[in-house]
Amino acid sequence: MSTSLTIYPGQSLQGTVSLPGDKSLSHRAALFAGLAHGVSRVDNFLNAGVTQAMLVALAALGIHWEMDGTRLTVYGSGFEGLRSQDGILDCGSSATTLRLLAGALAAGGVPATLDGSPGLRHRPMIRIIEPLRQMGVVIQGQDGCAPLVLGCSERPLRGLNYALAVSSAQVKSCLLLAALAADSPTTLSEPGPSRDHTERMLRSMGVSIDSIQPAADAIAPQFLSSQTGSEVHHAAYVTRLIPSHPLNLAPLNLTLPGDISSAAFLIVAALISPGSYIYLQNIGLNPTRIGLIEALAEMGADLQMVNLCLQGGEPAGDLVVRASTLHGTRVSGSLVVRMIDEFPAFAVAAAFAQGRTVVSQAEELHHKESDRITALCTELRRLGVQVEEAVDGFTIIGRECPQGGEVASHGDHRLAMALALVGLAARQPVTVHGAEVIGESFPEFGPILAALGARLEQAVLQTHQEASKLP
Ligand code: S3P
Repeated sequence: MSTSLTIYPGQSLQGTVSLPGDKSLSHRAALFAGLAHGVSRVDNFLNAGVTQAMLVALAALGIHWEMDGTRLTVYGSGFEGLRSQDGILDCGSSATTLRLLAGALAAGGVPATLDGSPGLRHRPMIRIIEPLRQMGVVIQGQDGCAPLVLGCSERPLRGLNYALAVSSAQVKSCLLLAALAADSPTTLSEPGPSRDHTERMLRSMGVSIDSIQPAADAIAPQFLSSQTGSEVHHAAYVTRLIPSHPLNLAPLNLTLPGDISSAAFLIVAALISPGSYIYLQNIGLNPTRIGLIEALAEMGADLQMVNLCLQGGEPAGDLVVRASTLHGTRVSGSLVVRMIDEFPAFAVAAAFAQGRTVVSQAEELHHKESDRITALCTELRRLGVQVEEAVDGFTIIGRECPQGGEVASHGDHRLAMALALVGLAARQPVTVHGAEVIGESFPEFGPILAALGARLEQAVLQTHQEASKLP
């Protein structure tokens, strides 16, 4: 069943809202709690398509959990409690579920087949297959993609010294989980600062992990998860895990902050809708995730982070956003890594900014839930935005008021939400087809926007013929 979402122009947004828990933290909390010994409690857990995929897979592996509203309780009995799998572990469309589970099952020595949606089968998996094999894991993919078959590996695994070609928290987390069962330390280096939620959470559960940042790093030092003096590895971001045996992870007791990647859509919505003023409460502000805030501030956004605190080891705070006159900017390098999920929302801000916004060194966007360079450029163009596509990014020449119209989601939740936002301030409404995919990460997107004052409409298309006529 296909759903379309239409947003009408002309409203300003006002109000205070809290958001569902962070997606990355929800995935990790559920899985790590299942690997711990004892009962974990996680509040403000994200109830959405991708986290449901993780929970269903955990249940299939024999991990007992209960959900009461947004409180998740997990009864963990360690890696040894994982049940081996004859059937397929369905990861839905969640690459985080698949990649993190691959690492955990490798550590547990649990044979399994990990698979998912056609979209998930397009995501690159060589990036975990190759280093896992170096650790002694028996793993097979299909042309470098899912399904992934994990066999019986000899244990203990080998510690790994590995440089990731592309900064990726999913790859890093997969390898760190496998490294828990290795006979020696594992050292991973990345060209940029991928999100460090795994390191923070595992450390809080008793694991020995260090993160070493390049000396000249721009991230505010009070937010870094750990720094070990002056050691610098060729300006790479290095993570080192020292395994301890027997492995005994302490249970979690956490309230998750709201998802900054969902907040991104509301921030851009308020910035481009004249007269808007919104207050977002208790949002995760981990420095490896707030690249969008920095890029928007550079564009002239009236955007403040207030009430900063540490919540369960993660930086958090409130965000105050007012409609703003934006101007173009440039984004490249490590900033790309720290706003890797935010380019759809960012592109919409750029479409309403004065002048050129240039995004480069962002090739990784080809490998997200859609090809986010091509799909974003194609659909923004349909709405009357002036866009130039490049191999490693795009240029947007902003103007006050794009035309609006009808676009397709490409099965990508973030693309669907971003494109819909254009309707807030375009000449005509914007209708996004295939909008049901928004439920994968942010089912409350429509209701929250409506509560802030946006005028929107959702329609369900019943027949295949109706759906096949769409852009
Ligand atoms: C995620 C890491 C990022 C991000 C994804 C969630 C995570 O992917 O795009 O939405 O939770 O670790 P990569 O690690 O592939 O960059």
